[in-house]
This record gives sequence, structure tokens and C-alpha cells, in this order.
Amino acid sequence: MSKLKIMAIFGTRPEAIKMAPVILELRKFPAIFETTVTVTAQHREMLDQVLALFKIQPDFDLNIMLAGQTLFDITSRALLGLNEILAQVKPDIVLVHGDTTTTFAGALAAFYHQIAVGHVEAGLRTGNKFSPFPEEINRKLTTALADLNFAPTETARQNLLKEGVSAEKIFVTGNTVIDALYQTVRADFKFDGAIENISRRIILVTTHRRENLGEPMRQVYRALKKILADFADVEIIFPVHKNPRVREVVAAELGNVAQVHLIEPLDYEPFANLMNRAALILTDSGGIQEEAPALGKPVLVLRDTTERPEAVEAGTVKLVGTDTEKIYSAAKILLSEPDEYQKMAAAQNPYGDGLAAKRIVQALLWRYKFSSEPPEFFSPK
Ligand code: UD1
Ligand code: UDP
Repeated sequence: MSKLKIMAIFGTRPEAIKMAPVILELRKFPAIFETTVTVTAQHREMLDQVLALFKIQPDFDLNIMLAGQTLFDITSRALLGLNEILAQVKPDIVLVHGDTTTTFAGALAAFYHQIAVGHVEAGLRTGNKFSPFPEEINRKLTTALADLNFAPTETARQNLLKEGVSAEKIFVTGNTVIDALYQTVRADFKFDGAIENISRRIILVTTHRRENLGEPMRQVYRALKKILADFADVEIIFPVHKNPRVREVVAAELGNVAQVHLIEPLDYEPFANLMNRAALILTDSGGIQEEAPALGKPVLVLRDTTERPEAVEAGTVKLVGTDTEKIYSAAKILLSEPDEYQKMAAAQNPYGDGLAAKRIVQALLWRYKFSSEPPEFFSPK
């Protein structure tokens, strides 16, 4: 039997973090899989940080990132670059992850070459076309193109079934982010520099969503200042996303605020361990909504919708949007009422058990007849 040619295509930090466990698992079967890695480099520095940590050397790097890139830039540059690489390598299947513009362009490029598509983290939905933008539609378009869907949870599987995806194309695997997290967080982790010596309570903040750029972000940062005015025993650590449109507003609102540490995006290892050290997390990130509950850290989500309802239902995550007063009052309760804090801080893990990449690889072995055993579906304990 000839080897199965698999190409992983990704471009941004979170795709890299969540695809890394799959690539490392595929590489355990060199006699069966010929695995190649193509990065669009929709992100540059933030992608390279992850590639270095997981020691993944891409076979192809399209290097498409432009400062202040538009959705048209990313889509067209990725699609044209991928055309050539797919024509050259001719993989049997392409794996894409999640809901970025690279995800959609990767799936579309594979489809144009009539190459099968496996979608990792399939089936997340808010039901709102513009929130998150453009991710909700990227996901739906990728579903339309996918031949194998690796749904992280039963909720995601149900979303796919409702849209008419046939059951035999769906595997519930858990989310690979939990694989990455478990490989990275350690109780004895030591931080470089100032973070190691912080003894006050830490609020960890990240923001980057396109629909929050401008005024919504300004509202969020004003809430942070109000929180600090009330709580002298709190420090905010804010690794600021590289997007200049985020940086502008952060600098204007938080540039000279005592108790706020504005820092560069952290490597995944210190970042994951910092989540574990934080008292509270405020974010509009998707991945952080999955990781923090596994660490028992309350999260206030700076968005009006979420495609990750499991941790909201479990109580560790609360949607607060971007309204200054709403964020301030939700944070105030958690910082001043220990009972309320404890209710949210119970560690939950609706998203994975650290074995998602193994299940994805088992599903591929089974689907391509290298094994007679399909994977068991993930279900949370
Ligand atoms: C992208 C994804 C989003 C994902 C997020 C993860 C799209 C449309 N958006 O959003 O789904 O949640 O990544 O972080 O696919 N930049 C750098 N260096 C980097 C990365 C970004 O300088 O390493 C700057 C560039 O100026 C770039 C800008 O940030 O133009 C925005 O990057 P882009 O990928 O377009 O959007 P994100 O907000 O990062
Ligand atoms: N992350 C990181 N360094 C940082 C901020 C975040 O490594 O400074 C990690 C985080 O742990 C999570 C992922 O990046 O795994 C989330 O990326 P992001 O918020 O950019 O994207 P999203 O998940 O919203 O698509």
C-alpha cells in the first residue's frame, strides 16, 4: 500500500497551537503517512513563536502577511500561493483548522484541485453571520468543502448534523487545544522577568476580534481602568496582539496606567502558564475560552456571542460584551465576592481530555483503511 500524503495548511497563531499536536501525532506513523506542512503565514511573528516551540519546520511558507492586511489580501494571496503548492505536492488529503481566512482559503484551494479536506475543530457556530466576523462564515464555507469533520464536542457534531452533514463524516474528538495545554502547563513553571515577582492578583487580558476594533475595544479598556481604580491589589497583564489597529487604541487608553503591564504577545509556554497563575481572564479570544476552564480560571468574554457554549453552561465563562459598565460590574463581583468567584472557578473540561490528536489520527487510519478500528468518540467526564 502506498503512503497517504497528508498536507496540514495553517497560517495564524491559534491554528498552529491547535494543529501542532495533530502533526506530531501523524509523524509517529512515518511508514503510513507522508506528512507535509504548509503555512500561509497570515501571521508572521506570532506563528513563528508556535512553530519554534513545537519544533515544526514548514515544508512550504507562503509568507503572505502584510501590515494592515484586508480579508481580500489574505484570501487572494493564500489561494494563489496554495494553488502552486498543491499542484506540486498533490496530497491525498489536506487538513485545515478552525475558522480563519487561511482555513477557508486552504479548503477552497484543495477543493479546486479535487483533494479531500479534513476540518479540525469543525461545527462551531454562533448562528450570527457577522459575529464573529468573518469567522462564522469561514466555518460554514469550510464545512461545505469538508469530507471529514473533526468536531471537538457533541454540540459541534449536532450543529453539523443540523446542516445536513452526514453522520459518517463526523468524528467527535475533543479539542486539540487541550492536548497542547496539557503538554505545556506545569505547576513549577518559572517566568522570566517581572511576572515572576508579581504578588498581587493578576487579571490577564487579550483582545483582537475584528468586530471589536475601534470603539468596542476603547470601551473595554475604560472598564479596565475603572476596575483598577477600585482594586489596589490587582495588576493587569496584557500581551498586546500585533495588529496595529489594536495597538493604537491600547496605547491611547492604557499607555500610562499604573498596574497595567502592556507586553508583546507571549510565547505559548509562558502564556499558558500565566493563565494558570491568573485570578481572572478577560478576553475576546476563542482558544482562551477553551483553555481557561480546564485550568479552573473564570473568564469574562468580551463578545456578545460565543460558538463555545459548553463552558458558559458549565459556569466558568460569562459573556459580558464590550460595554464598560457591564464588564466593570461583572469583574467587581468576582474580585470582591469569594463565593461568586468560587462558583465560577470550578475546573471544567468540556472541551477535551488531551487525546484529540490521537483520535483524529485514528479516524484517518480507519477512513483510509490502515486500521479496522474507528476512534471512540470523546465525551467529557
Ligand atoms: C486572525 C484571524 C482570526 C483569529 C486571529 C488569531 C482572520 C480574518 N482572522 O485575526 O480569526 O482569531 O488571527 O489571532 O483570519 N500582525 C503582525 N504579526 C503577526 C500577526 C499579525 O504584525 O504575527 C499584524 C499585521 O499587521 C496584520 C494584522 O496584525 O495585518 C492583522 O492580522 P490578521 O491575521 O489579518 O487578523 P487577526 O486579528 O490577527
Ligand atoms: N496565546 C499565546 N500568547 C499570547 C496570547 C495568546 O500563546 O500572548 C495563545 C492562547 O493560549 C490560545 C491562542 O493563543 O491558545 C489564542 O489565540 P488568539 O486569541 O490570537 O486567537 P483565537 O483563539 O481567538 O482565534
